[in-house]
Amino acid sequence: MDIRSIMRSAPVIPVIVVEELAHAVPLARALVAGGLPVLEITLRTPVAIEAIRAMSEVPGAIVGVGTVTTPEQLREAEDAGARFAVSPGLTSSLAAAARASRIPLLPGVATASEAMIAMEYGFTALKLFPAQQAGGIGMLKALAGPLPQLVFCPTGGLTPENFRDFLALPNVLCVGGSWVAPKQLVEAGDWDGITQLARAATV
Ligand code: 3PG
Repeated sequence: MDIRSIMRSAPVIPVIVVEELAHAVPLARALVAGGLPVLEITLRTPVAIEAIRAMSEVPGAIVGVGTVTTPEQLREAEDAGARFAVSPGLTSSLAAAARASRIPLLPGVATASEAMIAMEYGFTALKLFPAQQAGGIGMLKALAGPLPQLVFCPTGGLTPENFRDFLALPNVLCVGGSWVAPKQLVEAGDWDGITQLARAATV
């Protein structure tokens, strides 16, 4: 799948931190059941790569890797079955690795200049990160004028209260956020609660 198709597959991409491998599959199932099939598994815990491998087997899940900062991480996640990658920013080595990779990269930008550099590398679908802190809705509206070819997945600081305002913007295809997979519910194994949060994010 190309990155725009993935971004159009769900309004919200859960940004997921898997602390315990045993949580990976039930968490993925809970989110898919709630209507959020596109999952970003962050490389912030020792089990993240194994979690990607396990969650990729869940029917309906479109599992990607997040917090990618190096070419090695991109390759490792791709080998584990990740179908897309997300990075907080963009470097020349990561852009080169993405070109050599079979899976698409959604690179993070926070300024017009970073967006223009990403365009030079051939990226027109970008993550605005950290979205709220970088200027939020006003920033996305301002970028739409001079850079109309770009579409965004704003991530960082989004909430159940504000994410619909982001989704209403023409240059926003989806948003990312951790609120649909909160640590307390994951640790409690409250998979029904997570399905409900996911469902609430799709209406
Ligand atoms: C992250 O990298 O943690 C994401 O940007 C998620 O941010 P959030 O916790 O503000 O949704």
